[in-house]
Amino acid sequence: MSTTRFAPRLLAWHTGYGRHDLPWQVNDPYRVWLSEIMLQQTQVTTVIPYYQRFLVRFPTVANLAAATQDDVLAHWSGLGYYSRARNLHAAAQMVMSRFGGVFPQDPLTITELPGVGPSTAAAIAAFSFNVRSPILDGNVKRVLARWAGISGFPGEKAIERQLWQLAGSLLPDNPADMPAYTQAQMDLGATVCTPRKPACLACPVSDDCVARLTGRQLELPTAKPKKKIPERHTVMLLIHDAQGRLLLERRPPNGIWGGLWCLPETPSTLDAVADSQQRLDMTIALEPAGADFVHVFTHFRLTITPQPAVLLAQGNAVHDDDRRWFSREQALAAGIPTPLRKLLSA
Ligand code: ADE
Repeated sequence: MSTTRFAPRLLAWHTGYGRHDLPWQVNDPYRVWLSEIMLQQTQVTTVIPYYQRFLVRFPTVANLAAATQDDVLAHWSGLGYYSRARNLHAAAQMVMSRFGGVFPQDPLTITELPGVGPSTAAAIAAFSFNVRSPILDGNVKRVLARWAGISGFPGEKAIERQLWQLAGSLLPDNPADMPAYTQAQMDLGATVCTPRKPACLACPVSDDCVARLTGRQLELPTAKPKKKIPERHTVMLLIHDAQGRLLLERRPPNGIWGGLWCLPETPSTLDAVADSQQRLDMTIALEPAGADFVHVFTHFRLTITPQPAVLLAQGNAVHDDDRRWFSREQALAAGIPTPLRKLLSA
C-alpha cells in the first residue's frame, strides 16, 4: 500500500504515463493562455490545428491586440463558443494597455482578463510561472471528490469551497513541479479517472482513494440535483356501454402515447359530462371515481383519476375510425399504454 502524499504520486505517474508532447507545453504565458482558452470547451485533438494556425497569424500578444476582431474571429471560425475569441481579443488589448504588454503572473490578477476564471488563471500561472496555485476544473473536481470521498454536488458553493481548499492543500512543495503536477491532474482526469469507466488499476492514488475503497466511484462526484419534474393531472373516462364494452380512442401519431388506444381524457370530473356530450357526442352518467394513481414519465408525473361512467345515449361520432368499443380482452390485446393496462388488470 503506497500512501505517500498525493502530489509525489501524481508526479511519478506523470513521468511515465502523462502527456508530454502537447504543443502548448512551453513556458510562454501567451501560448499557455491561448491553449487554455481553446481547451475550455473543445477537445485536445480538435484544438491542435487551430492553435497552430492562430499562432502563425498572431505570434505574440501584441499582434493579437493589434488585429481586428474580424481577423481574430476568422481564425477561431469552426471552434465554436465565439465569446471566447472576443474575450481573448479584449484581454490581449488589456495586457497591452494595462500591463504594458507583460502578462501578469499573479493568478488573482490574471482573472481580471476577460474570459479567464480562477481555474484557468491558476493553470496559466502554474504552467508559465511555476506559481503554486491550485486548479479546479471539471476533471479535477471529479478526481478530488472521489479520492477524498467528498459527496454533494460540486457546483454547490459549499462543496466547491471544500474542493478548492483540498486542492490547495495537496500542491507539491517545490514550485518547479507545478507545471508537471498541473498537467498530471488534467491527464489523470482525462485518461484514468474518467466519469463512467475509471481505470482504478492504473491510478497512482487508488490505494487511499475513498471512492475506490468504498466502491463509490460512480456515485462521486454527486450528480447535479434533478430539477423537480412537473406534475400534471388528467381524468380518464371508463365509459361502458350496455354490453360492458369500453370506449377507447386512438391517439394522434405524435406526442405521448402516439398511435396507442387510450381512454378518453378530460381535465376534471366536473367537466366530464359536458365534455363527453360535446366532444364524443355521448350522454353519460358518472359513477364514483376510482382512486388516483401516478404514472411517471421522463419529463413529468401524471396523476390519473379513473372515472367510470355508463353510456346513456350516443350520436354518430363514435363510428369514427379512431374511436371504438372494446371488450376487456380486446383492449388488453390492443396497443394500450401501461396505466390503462394496469387499470384493466386491476
Ligand atoms: N484541457 C485544459 N487544459 C489542458 C491542458 N493543458 N492539456 C490538455 N488538456 C487540457
